[in-house]
Amino acid sequence: MLGKIGLIGGGYIGGVLTQEIVQRRLAREVGLTDPAPFVNPDDPPERQEVQKKQSVAKGKCLDIAEGTPTIRSDVRCVASKDYSALAGSELIINTAGVPRKARPDGTFPSREELLTINLKVTKQVAEGIKQYCPKATIISIANPLDAIVYTLDKALKPPKNKLFGMAGQLDSGRYCYFVAEAAKISVENVNAMVLGGHGDDMVPVRSTCQIAGIPVGKFLDEATLAAIEARTRKAGGEIVGLLGFGSAFVSPAWAALEMAEAIIYDKKKIIPVCAKLEGEYGVKGLFVGVPAIVGAGGVEKVIELELSAAEKEAFAKSISAVSKTCAEVDQMLAAI
Ligand code: LAC
Repeated sequence: MLGKIGLIGGGYIGGVLTQEIVQRRLAREVGLTDPAPFVNPDDPPERQEVQKKQSVAKGKCLDIAEGTPTIRSDVRCVASKDYSALAGSELIINTAGVPRKARPDGTFPSREELLTINLKVTKQVAEGIKQYCPKATIISIANPLDAIVYTLDKALKPPKNKLFGMAGQLDSGRYCYFVAEAAKISVENVNAMVLGGHGDDMVPVRSTCQIAGIPVGKFLDEATLAAIEARTRKAGGEIVGLLGFGSAFVSPAWAALEMAEAIIYDKKKIIPVCAKLEGEYGVKGLFVGVPAIVGAGGVEKVIELELSAAEKEAFAKSISAVSKTCAEVDQMLAAI
């Protein structure tokens, strides 16, 4: 159990995270921050007074806290509209920013299209972390995933083991689920990793896909696997299209908690995470999804896989997409 976990963003993922942390008793205290609802200066003063008093984070936390006697959990919940509820956090999970949302015609933006707005949010997030918990280990979930982690790194310059992004576990979970469903085998038997950036060019790595240790090709044919891998790459969008109001929130929260528990219990668990590469996989200075040993020290070691020629090519394509978005981050930060 940690002393305190801080959660930035009280949206759908932040709500599930708070609930799960309290239920799993992962820390003595959980702190949730979210500025919503915003005070609109164009509204009449009486309305502004109401907006000042309202708080999504405080509402969600009080709801959960009032349930703690029922589930017999002594985890304390604190919340704020500014970043003060993060004070003293040893671990931060960042979900701040707008999610992808279906447009009225059913289409939806790419994760990269969220960059302009979420970059501004991330600058404030970095200030909040700097002020209230500068030494915390940080797991970031906000999109565009790899570029937001890169932005946090530029703003905070933490030791490289203490900042990483959640996406590989989510994307790998999706790949495993589709394989289990097609093969009609328990999800508990399926292992597979998705590497690269958390965008439509992500790389489901077939050579890591096994059912009870047996290569997946024994169970599913080439066409089925190719269709599963294509679906995996677009699986986030599939949910955005179905929900209509936003993006996936339960599976991303569970994936982040998989990483958090590896840290809290010092598991030394191999998880695909968005980690800073300094030469591994031939990449320098970018945050990209790779397998890593996760323990009390955060990202303790990046594992380099032997990829097939086709997987290497797909990985390179994904890296160039991440690199392009990070170049946009550099340009935008220079202009702010
Ligand atoms: C997804 C979002 C959370 O892939 O990036 O569902």
